[in-house]
Amino acid sequence: MRLLACLLLGATAASAAGVTGSAEGFAKGVTGGGSASPVYPDTIDELVSYLGDSSARVIVLTKTFDFTNSEGTTTATGCAPWGTASACQLAINKDDWCTNYEPDAPTTSVTYDNAGVLGITITSNKSLVGSGSSGVIKGKGLRIVSGASNVIIQNIAITDINPKYVWGGDAITLNNCDLVWIDHVTTARIGRQHLVLGTSASNRVSVTNNYFNGVSSYSATCDGYHYWGIYLDGSNDLVTLKGNYIYHFSGRSPKVASNTLLHAVNNYWYDSSGHAFEIGSGSMVLAEGNVFQNIPTIVESPVSGQLFTSPDTTTNAICSTYLGHTCQVNGFGSSGTFSQADEGFLSNFEGKNIASADTYSVAQSSVIGNAGQGNL
Ligand SMILES: *[C@@H]1O[C@H](CO)[C@@H](O)[C@H](O)[C@H]1NC(C)=O
Repeated sequence: MRLLACLLLGATAASAAGVTGSAEGFAKGVTGGGSASPVYPDTIDELVSYLGDSSARVIVLTKTFDFTNSEGTTTATGCAPWGTASACQLAINKDDWCTNYEPDAPTTSVTYDNAGVLGITITSNKSLVGSGSSGVIKGKGLRIVSGASNVIIQNIAITDINPKYVWGGDAITLNNCDLVWIDHVTTARIGRQHLVLGTSASNRVSVTNNYFNGVSSYSATCDGYHYWGIYLDGSNDLVTLKGNYIYHFSGRSPKVASNTLLHAVNNYWYDSSGHAFEIGSGSMVLAEGNVFQNIPTIVESPVSGQLFTSPDTTTNAICSTYLGHTCQVNGFGSSGTFSQADEGFLSNFEGKNIASADTYSVAQSSVIGNAGQGNL
């Protein structure tokens, strides 16, 4: 109902047509396709054309767009770095990865779907929104093209991208872009990363209310938990990660690297067989109001970057100066420790658009029912 109301209001209201609500956090102000008349692709070719052309567009998905088999398959020699058991992922020898990085791994034949390997190009000024719970892209991810800005992806699912194979494809890729809002998206059964921000600057990004589902029949840890979750690389990227449900991963959820400033607020991590955070040299992570349930290793050692885990109300008062609110403590159930209070980087939040923070108990009661496609 709310989506319908927003569509009807779209012609007159200031909010972008087709999009529900507006971004908070670093990507605040993103308009995507703005007030362009919505288009409703019918075929995968139409979808690809709308996402990649030079017009501002509001693209509404009303069904599943299945790219499986649309570009053929490849059979080649890959490798098995984690073993050949049926629950283990295998690796495609992409750019000689097996040869260069896993020379001791047994070789094995791999057959993968070509469409999955590279995501659909998205250019500037696009809103891609799903209608109700019907907008699905299967077998191919989304890749915001280098140099693009002002993109909204909301209320769709991205599924089944060569889940058996590392290098089989990512769900959402950003690199060298600005003002991107990813909201209420579900990702499931992906070969490589569910979300990846590349080594160039992705600038202002808000990742909100998504359901990253790591359940997989094939995993690098051979245990049904996907390893390649969220990878936030970049140069001086600003990433708001709020209200997301990050479920059933064994690693990299997220891996933060290269001067990324991450505000992780009110997310719900549930059930990991490995670690959630990896915090690399130069990166800066503020975590507040999150829930960690059954996460044995919340952050992998060592923490090479800076980390503020909002440990207690006295320490958290410092946030007021830089974020405009006192940081919220995180909540823990059957999880490992997470306590560090590097304060030196908090001044980087000053003057930016900062997401608000609820208590972890609000996140605990609301995130699972709200996150992902179909829950707008
Ligand atoms: C995106 O929209 C803005 C505002 O209308 C415009 O200035 C800009 O040129 C557009 N970008 C592209 C690549 O079309």
